[in-house]
Amino acid sequence: MSLLSSVERAPRDPILGLTEAFKADDRPGKVNLGVGVYMDADGTVPLLECVKTAQDRLAANPAPYGYLPIDGLAAYDDAVVDLVFGDTVPRDHVAVVQGLGGTGSLKVAGDLLRRLQPEAKVLISDPSWENHQALFSRAGFEVERYPYYDAEAHGVDVDAMVTALGEAPAGTVVVLHACCHNPTGYDLTPDEWARVEQVVRERGLVPLLDMAYQGFATDLASDGAAVRRFAASGPVFVTTSFSKTFSLYGERVGALSVVCADADEAARVLSQLKIVVRTTYSNPPTNGATLVATVLGDAELRSQWEGELAGMRDRIKEMRVALRSGLEQARPGIVAEHITTQNGMFSYSGLGKEQMVRLREEFALYGLDSGRLAIPALNPGNLDRVVDALAKVWP
Ligand SMILES: Cc1ncc(COP(=O)(O)O)c(C=O)c1O
Repeated sequence: MSLLSSVERAPRDPILGLTEAFKADDRPGKVNLGVGVYMDADGTVPLLECVKTAQDRLAANPAPYGYLPIDGLAAYDDAVVDLVFGDTVPRDHVAVVQGLGGTGSLKVAGDLLRRLQPEAKVLISDPSWENHQALFSRAGFEVERYPYYDAEAHGVDVDAMVTALGEAPAGTVVVLHACCHNPTGYDLTPDEWARVEQVVRERGLVPLLDMAYQGFATDLASDGAAVRRFAASGPVFVTTSFSKTFSLYGERVGALSVVCADADEAARVLSQLKIVVRTTYSNPPTNGATLVATVLGDAELRSQWEGELAGMRDRIKEMRVALRSGLEQARPGIVAEHITTQNGMFSYSGLGKEQMVRLREEFALYGLDSGRLAIPALNPGNLDRVVDALAKVWP
């Protein structure tokens, strides 16, 4: 038997599988409600004006593509720390590396944590973004879940969450969604964050806040409040993704920041992070980080970005309101209030697998079997059709 002849076929990525089925469907009016990408009202991924201006500026002064330092573009790293932490912590207390999107940054975090705490477990929310489980398992961790989603209450079961964290052994890594929880859309309130932070600190757990949607719920400051709360009270790992917030998906722009006790500790942590990076992809790519650093480093472009971010957020909120009121009008008795209390790109609609399969087979609407719907896929051109179909399968 040769080396490769016994290789087993790995299961297909469920979301990519859904997209393939969607592409193969030739029915008119089909809608892909599965994919986690922001789209404008015309159904296209936007190129933000601030990014376009930054592109034009860079094109006017072409620079060679040398290697970046292992930890990334310095101006970018500084801009990330400023955006994420403001003046909550001194810059030199933060070890930061530019990462390959949020995913690549989580991978670097996982690899470093595994070296630091080989015996620890990782706790992720139930449910969570599917890749959390896979990423941390691949890094060698045993991954378990803490209670999060409360289907009956249409919200978060924070009591159960806090109880579970209170029973976790010291050193357990706890992955938290900083805002816009994926897949449910349900976030903690500030008071609930305070409870979670308290138990994390009391138990000596290691918080890792995954922030892929800063600015998609309320605004940059409010959405970043949980991260800053943790940063003010001790060590914390924070992963940032600019995929959605800058609409730079394919550029793979993200970062891992580790808040340390002092500058010396941060320098030591950074040296270890650099080893992880060096042995994984050597150093990060130049273009996306240069675009983000250009925008964040220029007052006018930054304010333009905040306006464009607000535009994406507002459009999602409008679609939530329209979906909810459409459903309530389509069939009295439908309870859809939760669609407008959730944050971010996704809605855990409450629909089950049977209904999601019906949506696909009878109406060419492709959402995940978990009932997760991607709200940015909705637009004035398809809303009525989606409302009509959802109302027909809604329990
Ligand atoms: C919670 C969460 N973390 C991380 C990511 C990864 O982001 P990126 O595409 O930048 O790797 C996503 C993307 O969907 C996400 O939802």
